Amino acid sequence: MKDSQARTIYLKDYQAPDYLVDHTDLSFELDPHATLVKSKLKIRRNPAVAQANETLPPLWLDGADLELLSVSINGELLPAHRYQQRAGGLSLSTDAPEFELEVHTRIAPEANTSLEGLYLSNGMYCTQCEAEGFRKITFYPDRPDVMSVFTTTIVAPASYPVLLSNGNKVDSGTTEDGRLRVTWEDPFAKPSYLFALVAGDLQHVEDSFTTCSGREVKLQLFTEARNIGKCAHAMTSLKHSMRWDEEVYGREYDLDIFMIVAVDHFNMGAMENKGLNIFNSACVLASPETATDAAFQRIESIVAHEYFHNWSGNRVTCRDWFQLSLKEGFTVFRDAEFSADMNSRAVKRIEDVTLLRTSQFAEDAGPMSHPVRPDSYMEISNFYTLTVYEKGAEVVRMIHTILGPEAFRRGSDLYFERHDGCAVTCEDFVAAMEDANGADLKQFRRWYSQAGTPVLDVEDTYNEALGEYSLTIRQQTPETPGQKGKLPLHIPITVGLLAEDGSPLRLDDAAGQMEVVLHLTEASQNFTFAGIASRPLPSLLRGFSAPVKLRYDYSSAQLQFLMQHDTDPFNRWDACQRLSINSLQTLQQQYRSGEALQQPAALIEGYAAVLDDAALDPALVAKMLALPSAQEIAEQGGEIDAAAIIAARTFARDAIATALAERFLTRYHALEQHKPYSPTAEDIAERSLKNTCLFYLCAAGSADALALAKGQFERGENMTDTAAALAALVEFGTETQAEGFLQAFYQQWQQDTQVVETWFGLQSGSAKFGTLERVQKLIAHPAFEVKNPNKVRAVIAGFAMRNFTQFHRADGSGYTFLADQVIALDKLNPQIAARLVTPLTRWKKYRAQESAQIHAALQKISVSGELSRDLYEVVSKSLE
Ligand code: PHE
Ligand code: ZN
Repeated sequence: MKDSQARTIYLKDYQAPDYLVDHTDLSFELDPHATLVKSKLKIRRNPAVAQANETLPPLWLDGADLELLSVSINGELLPAHRYQQRAGGLSLSTDAPEFELEVHTRIAPEANTSLEGLYLSNGMYCTQCEAEGFRKITFYPDRPDVMSVFTTTIVAPASYPVLLSNGNKVDSGTTEDGRLRVTWEDPFAKPSYLFALVAGDLQHVEDSFTTCSGREVKLQLFTEARNIGKCAHAMTSLKHSMRWDEEVYGREYDLDIFMIVAVDHFNMGAMENKGLNIFNSACVLASPETATDAAFQRIESIVAHEYFHNWSGNRVTCRDWFQLSLKEGFTVFRDAEFSADMNSRAVKRIEDVTLLRTSQFAEDAGPMSHPVRPDSYMEISNFYTLTVYEKGAEVVRMIHTILGPEAFRRGSDLYFERHDGCAVTCEDFVAAMEDANGADLKQFRRWYSQAGTPVLDVEDTYNEALGEYSLTIRQQTPETPGQKGKLPLHIPITVGLLAEDGSPLRLDDAAGQMEVVLHLTEASQNFTFAGIASRPLPSLLRGFSAPVKLRYDYSSAQLQFLMQHDTDPFNRWDACQRLSINSLQTLQQQYRSGEALQQPAALIEGYAAVLDDAALDPALVAKMLALPSAQEIAEQGGEIDAAAIIAARTFARDAIATALAERFLTRYHALEQHKPYSPTAEDIAERSLKNTCLFYLCAAGSADALALAKGQFERGENMTDTAAALAALVEFGTETQAEGFLQAFYQQWQQDTQVVETWFGLQSGSAKFGTLERVQKLIAHPAFEVKNPNKVRAVIAGFAMRNFTQFHRADGSGYTFLADQVIALDKLNPQIAARLVTPLTRWKKYRAQESAQIHAALQKISVSGELSRDLYEVVSKSLE
């Protein structure tokens, strides 16, 4: 792409559509090379923008990669002078404010490797239309504020017995030439991005759900025959989600049927098409033998997420794509609360905060930094980001914290009632929250428009004579590209105070409660607590009540104290994190100044206490004992020195492993499960701690430990334990041993695509084993498919995003490798290429040598030829 072709779209330029589409009648005659698409649209001038006696504006229809066959209006072929085909669509002049438009186009699903529009996955037809994929199916006003009632007829050879689309099946039969024909009707008006079609030779499992008003809904999950045994967990998750949304949000399902389809080739996790969700296989299919606990939990949350979109996204949708967080931030918040209710609340929160701190903070400090509601974009696909999703969810969570649960529910009820069937904005969401409660969120709105992670500095004083304790909190948000001069935000900070004996203090200001939400609204503000008998220890930002970096100068002893006594489990974990980070920073300094690295004594002591605390939830223990990842350490600020981070982290890991070996062994044995696998929170917690112990035991390097891992691997009781044992053997065994185990694993599982993905990821992400040479071999492996994003993510992203050690090898070869992969992938799948380039975008943060190497790799991409709009946007903004 040349600079001149890159067009930026601005929120401030939004205009309501000139025409509305009341009804969309589609028909598909499926063929891999030449699918015929006929679309009949009932079109009408938008009364909201029409003027009296006006000249009608031309009708604009988006279209991409389409072969136009014919255009007719009110049943008559339109002469060529009435329409113009342009790059990106079709413009036609109209002579009446209301008419029926019929357009015929031809498309080639077989040639579609972008996985947007209509494409083939293992011979099965499927669609992906969000955000702007519908325009690859037919010419259409492909924007979310055009909502239409859809009827869809699919005609396909008899070898495609399952033909699905949105809504209810209203007709089916056979054509004269023996093909199958099915018609679907979706009574709910929807934007084109929620359209879906699936055709294939699929099996399904079926269940049903009775809604709160007593309606019976048929639930179906479709997949290829070989995967039919992997559907149970998703089905259970779906029923739990449907019940939860009724109970917590009062939202009932609205069609008589809800379908989920699993496909192997998919750019994202899953898609909430009305009544017909389409899922990446990896996010829906699971069995204990083949899927890890992490996969089970991911499936539960994604099934819920897509289901929840039926209200937050589909019934009430986005006016334009700048409002993406309206549906995504809200829905991520909803699915996170669902998972918290179904499992351990603290663990779920820890996982989400870790993702935010590791990756969203990095995004917000990099060249692609943007507000939760962006002001501009070149390619909307690039804005399905951690900022829009995860930070967006944090923003909704803060509203929940500020208003409280009952008021929040009143707000969401008003939002759904007011805007049902409409395409609205983030502003409408906040306004509903205010109006339902007489609340004032004026300053709070800045969270939607201001990018960057705020930094809070906290200092405290204690006045013994007055019995007063004060916190002074200052906030400041760093500049981000295109945004200078940040304003103070409204930040809710949940705080508790601990007495000297570790007991929680009653806070007079909070009507005797043990914790209080402080509302920071100024650049600097003082909060005083009265009636405090002795100097307390503050527990700040409990539950991570705001997406900020909080600095307070805790001593190691204070952190250990919080780890043992804080009543907030999240903050107990967070104290442990701070202790780890402090130790790792000291080690990095020692490494850089050429000193011998010293035992991280405080950290070892803290970990020992955690392991000795029999009352602590094992899941929390496992989380506390996990050292922050290299990426997370890199996020702590200052210049990133990859070698120092790796040296410090490896040293700390080995020191902990050696010092606490006995404890790890005792705990390992105590946690062995002698019962069938079940993905319950308790069992998952035990397995996670057991496998953490195993990892440390193997890190300490004894032959006994490796024998334990070998035993666990060979027993193969479930994929969680098998994969954990294999990971430890690969990391700490000899190379020959590791080869042997990997071979054996592959032999056993080569028929199962998902396990093969695990197998790829284990190698590409291994600090020891995942060298560039090995990754190159994996790419040449017969099971690798460059056209399958899951495989690309397992191997290439596994190396570039989850293998800090090998990716940052000093010769810079990892960077050049990634650049070459990105250049090649851009020709096939621009969305994936643009995501994969992320590790190269942060070159400015590294030491001079790495920085220059990463910059050169980016430059290589930039001059490699014509780039897709997706990749061009990321690369050009990163080079600025
Ligand atoms: N809207 C999907 C989700 O829930 C994500 C998605 C976006 C999927 C674009 C495909 C394409 O979150
Ligand atoms: Zn979503």
